[in-house]
Amino acid sequence: MIEKIHHLMQEIANLEAKSAQEAEILRIKYLSKKGEISQLMNDFRSVPAELKKEVGMKINELKTLAHEKINALKENADTASSTDEASLDLTRTPYPTPLGSRHPLTIVKNEIVDIFSRLGFTLAEGPEVEDDWHVYSSLNFADDHPARDMQDTFFVETHPDIILRSHTSSVQSRVMETTQPPIRILCPGRVYRNEAVSARAHCFFHQVEGLYIDKNVSFTDLKQVLLLFAQELFGPDTKIRLRPSYFPFTEPSAEMDVSCTICGGKGCSMCKGSGWLEILGCGMVDPAVLEANGIDSNVYTGYAFGMGIERITNLKYQVKDLRMFSENDVRFLDEFVSAR
Ligand code: PHE
Repeated sequence: MIEKIHHLMQEIANLEAKSAQEAEILRIKYLSKKGEISQLMNDFRSVPAELKKEVGMKINELKTLAHEKINALKENADTASSTDEASLDLTRTPYPTPLGSRHPLTIVKNEIVDIFSRLGFTLAEGPEVEDDWHVYSSLNFADDHPARDMQDTFFVETHPDIILRSHTSSVQSRVMETTQPPIRILCPGRVYRNEAVSARAHCFFHQVEGLYIDKNVSFTDLKQVLLLFAQELFGPDTKIRLRPSYFPFTEPSAEMDVSCTICGGKGCSMCKGSGWLEILGCGMVDPAVLEANGIDSNVYTGYAFGMGIERITNLKYQVKDLRMFSENDVRFLDEFVSAR
């Protein structure tokens, strides 16, 4: 028995542990209820009475030794893992700090603004909560004009004349009433229409409006500026075509298509086989609109155009669902981290 105790003492004195877990395994092996030392206590019962004192002292000695040794192993393992110099590499680059990104609509808006500012357009803004005059009446919409229904306006309940603007054309009127030509402005902003929210429609979206008024402004100027714009935005091979259309505030009016940004005009699912994509409405400012806003239509002419920013962003980045733009899903927004 004494021999066995001496043997265990030697064994324990030489124990090593690389981690706190290993030290714990050793504690279980020697010091737990079913461990080797408890086993010895069981055997102790059969030790002859005259030897009990000596053997008992030895076992106590062994127990103390085991406790001290294993505790020391645990402590060493703890401090080793927290200051392990080999694992502390001060030359490593730090974890990258996640950066925010611009919203895709802001990226595209900035691009549009940038192109037109190089053509001499300056920014103008107007309120989103507007009155009927600036959104409709001053722009030649008759009181019962069906286009008012077409725009599906939100009214501010307490005041039938106060509405959420349904297009940025209201800013045209705001600028004309306070400024004499030459006027060359670009108006980006949010607009509202009473539409059920779906992948293809939303109750709010964004437009950029352009207005140029001066002496001798012609449809040719409009067409040339729009061609330059389309080629800057979608690439130098982009073609445009103008189709006759109708807006109450322009005469003549047109809608502009660009050659498909995906197939280049051959026809694909994006352009539904036509080779063309509609991107904006435009026209020569109706003389009645100039007059209603205090500009002499015998002296001045002008053109205007308006486009949806979501529409153009969809064409550039193939966003399939309009709702993505306002859901703030970081996985979506992260897609644009490297975009301008
Ligand atoms: N305001 C028109 C719309 O909301 C677009 C447009 C602007 C058309 C300027 C012609 C001239 O659809």
